[in-house]
Amino acid sequence: MSQPNSLPIGVFDSGVGGLTVLRALRQRLPAEQFIYLGDTARLPYGTKSGASVLRYSIQAAEFLVNQGIKYLVIACNTASSVAVEPLRQRFAPMPVIGVIEPGSIAGCAASKSGHIAVLATEGTVRGGAYQRAIAHAKPDARVVAQACSLFVALAEEGWTEGAIAEAIAHRYIDELFRNDPLIDTLLLGCTHFPVLATALRAVIGPSVTIVDSAETTANAVHAELSELGLLRTGERVPGRMILQATDGPERFARVGSLFLGEAFDAGRVELVDISPTR
Ligand code: DGL
Repeated sequence: MSQPNSLPIGVFDSGVGGLTVLRALRQRLPAEQFIYLGDTARLPYGTKSGASVLRYSIQAAEFLVNQGIKYLVIACNTASSVAVEPLRQRFAPMPVIGVIEPGSIAGCAASKSGHIAVLATEGTVRGGAYQRAIAHAKPDARVVAQACSLFVALAEEGWTEGAIAEAIAHRYIDELFRNDPLIDTLLLGCTHFPVLATALRAVIGPSVTIVDSAETTANAVHAELSELGLLRTGERVPGRMILQATDGPERFARVGSLFLGEAFDAGRVELVDISPTR
């Protein structure tokens, strides 16, 4: 039987976006093994109800847990906004982390004025999880959250820079800064948004800090694994990465390569069915 330390870390997202988090995790934890599950058949989560997203999250998590994992990372912000506590309770004592708390801590650390704008999906904004996490980390912070649904489609289409991306970004963001010129931090509360950073930078100018949760989440995972004595150390074989998707391995590979920051082909992607067996 495998020692817990050598078990993989499970990561799930609604699709390819969470590969931005996997990328940061692999950089921070190069010796670890990862199983990444993208629930592409049910993407997007961001426009669905909290109840549906929770149900999908439980199924995704169960699918990973059944493969034998030592740690669960919810890479999807929308899923993190509803599922962290329910999944912690369901799978205890296995540790579970979402991206919202680490992202909020990073956003608060970056902001001098305490005026923070969060860009996220409709579901994440509606649930208020970022607003709560930021208020917890920095009680005097002033937060405004904006749903930017079209950014997901733009990122998936690969239209991440240039006139169209910037025009849409202006439409979502300009009013936030008009209403509150003291905003000094833009917190990217969605897996897809980091790939739009160049267009966002062109729109907000040089003085606003852009923060995303991928790197801080990777640091938090490292810290918790280390604290629990669960780091994969002393292994000679470098960490493996398994990629699974519930639909469309070809599209997953084509679009996902941009998010992972390295090219991979559809042959690397295992098509899986995560519906519960009864
Ligand atoms: N992964 C989602 C998130 O981070 C974005 C895509 C979706 O709506 O499913 O909120």
